[in-house]
Formats: sequence, structure tokens, C-alpha cells
Amino acid sequence: MNNALHFPPGFVWGTASSSHQVEGNNHNNQWWLFEQKPGAIFDGSRSGLAADWWAHAERDLDLMQQFGLTAHRMSLEWSRIEPEPGYFAEDAMGRYRQILQGMRERGIQPMVTFHHFTNPMWLERKGGWEHSEVIARFQNYVRHTVERLSDLCDTWLTINEPLVYVAQGWFRGIWPPEKQDAVGALKVLRHLLLAHGAAYQAIHAVQPKAQVGVAMAVRNFHPSNPDSRFDQFAGWIKRFIGQEIWFKGTQDGRVRLPLGLNEYHKPLDHSADFIGINYYSRDFTRFTFNPLRLFGEEHYAEGGEFSDSGQKGVYSQLAPEGLHHVLQELAPFGLPIYITENGLPDRDDDQRPRWLLSHLHRVHDAIRDGSPVKGYYHWTFADNYEWSEGWHLRFGLVELDEVTQERRPRPSADLYSAIARENGVSRAVTAQYAPELLPLLFP
Ligand code: BGC
Repeated sequence: MNNALHFPPGFVWGTASSSHQVEGNNHNNQWWLFEQKPGAIFDGSRSGLAADWWAHAERDLDLMQQFGLTAHRMSLEWSRIEPEPGYFAEDAMGRYRQILQGMRERGIQPMVTFHHFTNPMWLERKGGWEHSEVIARFQNYVRHTVERLSDLCDTWLTINEPLVYVAQGWFRGIWPPEKQDAVGALKVLRHLLLAHGAAYQAIHAVQPKAQVGVAMAVRNFHPSNPDSRFDQFAGWIKRFIGQEIWFKGTQDGRVRLPLGLNEYHKPLDHSADFIGINYYSRDFTRFTFNPLRLFGEEHYAEGGEFSDSGQKGVYSQLAPEGLHHVLQELAPFGLPIYITENGLPDRDDDQRPRWLLSHLHRVHDAIRDGSPVKGYYHWTFADNYEWSEGWHLRFGLVELDEVTQERRPRPSADLYSAIARENGVSRAVTAQYAPELLPLLFP
């Protein structure tokens, strides 16, 4: 009888976070400014001290070590490292060195992201990602940083979720810079892609053995009505612009329409050493004439189970089979795959254990079917500032009181700890945390 879903030896078990969501007092970026605007954040809250990582990241690192986690994905705050154009702050770099050193001392392998939605204010004033100058500026920041941190980290993500950044900021206009401008959106996407290529080259020039990727938000975008050509088109265009242009462009160096004219950019050619995917939910797409929705309105399947963000939330319907599907689709690229984010908002933790186990079950299936998945990073370790949702959505394995900074591990933290230590999902933990899944996981 099979008593566990075993993962391959060396499989990486970690958690993920981003600078602005955890560090606190990031007052030199565009998000800090945005948070001060009445009505910008759902519950009116501000990031404030966040999870207080700038002063006390070690508190969470100690807990991670106690839970037996062996990896963590974090991001660097460009506005701290380069607070003015061309001026690199040694004290900020010193603090990042301390944090990374702290991870290593605790046996936690770092994966570091350079851009996770936030920009220095000076960059915003110069036109931000709409201005092509950003490519060289980003490359310069990345080069400087890798020169200073290459002894502590060798696994990097250049950009987090290009399409989410652009969709929220330039299509929907609900995140800074709050625009509804399709032309601007395409320009920003193009610059992000080229900046990735430039950064990839800079990293490898300093650290030839580095592993570099992008964290891509992956969705399924199934046509709402599988027989409708319009719905098929809507799903196709979203996947093409949001995913394929990136996966293919970083293989063959081509910048495809509508981000380019299919022209070749050498720095982009073979600029991914692995694929990073953030997976939260599966959705369906219905055609609309609105270009600001990329011709598709997304919706969930009828029925089903929703997380705390409910039917209107972006990341809310339980759909682990979609993860299996995505992993199968990406396998032919032949690159190692890391699940760089997966999780859900669930304050009382009554869904997280089941969701976590259901997703890992599908990851296990995908690996069995040949998908080269090398690691899983749960979003997130301790509750953090959830962008325009503020503090009301709680994604943490550990509950955080953002006022007192007190931490209380949720049951899911113990579950995840057991999984990491056993390098697999045992029948015993399944029976303990989600017995209803036993027939599915251990038929
Ligand atoms: C982002 C995170 C975010 C998470 C949950 C991802 O889109 O990379 O920053 O907190 O989803 O919404």
C-alpha cells in the first residue's frame, strides 16, 4: 500500500514574499504614495511596518528554520538600493547581505526577485516603465546588486508577473500609475521583456553559473463557451500576450506582435535558465470588444469552492487541476520549473490545509507525468500587505498581528513543515489535516 506521495530527492520546499509587502517603511516607492490616497486601498489600510522585515527579518527566518523549510523567495527593493539615480546606498545593501547571510546560516536557500511591482519614486518621475531608458537603468541596478550579492545568492528572478503589473496599472487602472491606456500597456510590456533580457546578460556576466528566470502568473483562460470562436480568441490572446510571448521570446530572442515586429534581440535569446510560475486559480474567458480587457472578460466556473476573496477575487476558486494542466503545457520547453507562488487568502485556516494538499497532489501527478518541477514556494510565510486589498486578505502560514508584530503559526504551518521534512505528502498528514482527500490522494 502506498503511504506517501514522495517528491524527487532535493525537491525545494519554501515560501515566497516581496519587499514592499514585508519590509515596512518603504516610503521611497510609488506604492507608498499610492496607499496614502483615500479610496486606493480596499480597507483603507497602509503597509506601514508591514511584517517588519527591514528591522527584524530574522524573527521569521528563525521560524522558517524551526519549521524545517529549506528555501525562501524574497525581493529586493530598488528604491532602497538606488534611492537616487546612479547613487547606490551601501547601508541598504549591507542589510540585504545580512538577511541573505541569515538565511544561509539557517539552511534556507534564497531565490531573489529584482522587480516585484514597486519602483523608486525617481524612476516614476522619469516616466517609469513607459520610457525606454528604464531598460538600461534596470540593467545597471541589477548588475550592481549581483556584484555585491553573488557570494550569497545564485538564483534570481528578474521580474515578477509582468502581465499582472501591467493589467492592474495600465488596463484596469486600479494600481499605480492608475492608467487605462492600451498603448502605454504594450510599451511597458515590451520594456519589461527587453529589461529581462538585459538583466539576464548582466547577471551571467558577473556570475556565469547563476540560474535566472521570470516569475510568470499562469492562468488557463479556457474559452467560456468552447464552441465560440470569439471566446476562443479571447482566451488565446490573453495567453499569448501574458504568457507565450514571454516563454517563446526568452527562448528564441524574438519580440512578437504586438510587443514588437518579431524582431530579434540577442540579449533575449536563451535568457531563461528555468521557468517560474505563480499559480492561484483557473478561469474562463468570455469575449468582449473592450481592448482594455484584452478582449476577454474573465470568470470562474459555476459552483466550486472560493477562498476568502470570494467570487470577485482574482485568486479565489479552488482549481488544482489547472496547475497540472499548466505544468504539462510547459514541460516541452525542457527547462526546470519552480512553482514560485501558490497559496490562498484564508484567515481562519479552514481551507488552506485542503487547498495545499490538493495542489501538491497535482504537482506530484505532473512530476510523475514527466514535468521537471524542482521546487514549490508557498505564498506566503507570515501574513503580509496584500497590495490594494490591504490587510484584509491573509495569505500566511503564520498569522501576523501587524500592530504588535506577534506571530502565531496556523495549523497549515505544521502541515507544511511535515511535508517539507518528509519530502512528500504522507497518508498520515492527509488523514490528520484533510481526511476527505484520502480517497483521491491514496486510492
Ligand atoms: C503577487 C503577490 C501577491 C499574491 C497574492 C501575486 O500576484 O506576486 O505579490 O501578494 O499574488 O495576491
